[in-house]
Amino acid sequence: MSYQAPKGTFDLLPPDSATFLAVRAALSAPARRAGYAYVETPIFEDTALFARGVGESTDVVSKEMYTFEDKGGRSLTLRPEGTASVLRAVLEHNLHRGALPVKLWYSGSFLRYERPQAGRYRHFSQVGIEAVGVEDAALDAEAVLLAVDAYAALGLRDVRLLLNSLGDRTCRPAYREALQAFLRGLDLDAETRSRVEINPLRVLDDKRPEVLRQLEEAPLAADHLCDDCKAHHEQVRALLTAAGVTFEDAPRLVRGLDYYTRTTFEFVHDGLGAQAAVGGGGRYDGLSESIGGPALPGVGWALGVDRTVLALRAEGVEPAVDDPVQVFAVPIGPEAVGPLFGIVTELRRAGIRADLAYGGRGLKGSMKAADRSGATRALVVGERDLADGVAQVKDLTSGEQVAVPLTELVARLQEELR
Ligand code: HAM
Repeated sequence: MSYQAPKGTFDLLPPDSATFLAVRAALSAPARRAGYAYVETPIFEDTALFARGVGESTDVVSKEMYTFEDKGGRSLTLRPEGTASVLRAVLEHNLHRGALPVKLWYSGSFLRYERPQAGRYRHFSQVGIEAVGVEDAALDAEAVLLAVDAYAALGLRDVRLLLNSLGDRTCRPAYREALQAFLRGLDLDAETRSRVEINPLRVLDDKRPEVLRQLEEAPLAADHLCDDCKAHHEQVRALLTAAGVTFEDAPRLVRGLDYYTRTTFEFVHDGLGAQAAVGGGGRYDGLSESIGGPALPGVGWALGVDRTVLALRAEGVEPAVDDPVQVFAVPIGPEAVGPLFGIVTELRRAGIRADLAYGGRGLKGSMKAADRSGATRALVVGERDLADGVAQVKDLTSGEQVAVPLTELVARLQEELR
């Protein structure tokens, strides 16, 4: 074989692809029931949108972007995430001048040049929501609940919700300085020391034991919140508690993207090893201004479809997916092909999933195909059946076979397969 899928990517093939579709649909279902409307943005954007929006000093922007110059000399980047794009679209089309909040959901491919490992890919799939234009703790709580309900509907049990507040432009600067002052006193390598100066919060996310040990006494954002941020955070916590949501206060939770203010959260699954985050999000009240827009608050999340599928597998949960087909038609002899082709078309138009044995394989080969198809009924029709105006309907589970008049066939199958 000459070509393979590029490093860090994989093909989604049947039957697993059906699970992916089901998971994608389930992850967005609660949001769709809560007034979120579908949005789709281009797979590439001006590089500057992500550089400004996500933050130059993040790993995502500084190391992981697929950036290229197009033939017109523009610098474009394959989207590493969706929030900056969605906000750009909101601003460009003035959606924020209409009814607020603007509630949007999306689903699609995202690209990051990461070191591939289990659960971490260069091409991956997210379902996300963004609620823009309102600064209300109840909207943060709604966002969290919609994700909680999505995981619950899929049957996931071992998802933990980590919740934190990172403060806002009032209290964050003082916290940042306090954290920097603390970090400067530690024994750190050169790269981490420079991170202390550029993006000190990211240092809290260091997983190396020798660093972790030194971080035990690090000042935490939660202890430096201004009164407004504290009140906001308490309200989010209270609403979630009242809704019966279990969460863990995670004062060390920092996210890999720079736009977050106040509420931040992550959903982690313990069956996934190092790449435990199945989803994450938070509030981003400064993002609009950093990409040239007016002051416009927002909150949202993105859930990783690939990792959610892995989490389901780790728990041994199979999301319900429809069998590809319910009825498989087997023509005996060439003269049965035309009439059966017509019957199959009629069945499909009546809402029954149906397929036909193609390629004149003969009865044995065709029945094997029927068994493999996942159908519960085979429709066997030969010359004699046509003369009698019937089809043989074989129950592939019990092996029972009955002759059904062609005129009653669609109604009978509809009744049986409902
Ligand atoms: P994020 O935490 O970077 O947030 O990504 C969200 C989720 O996407 C992760 O929790 C993970 O499940 C999945 N994911 C991220 N990178 C990869 C990868 N390389 N391979 C597989 N799965 C991955 C965001 O993207 C924000 N835009 C979320 C957000 C929306 N915040 C506010 N609104």
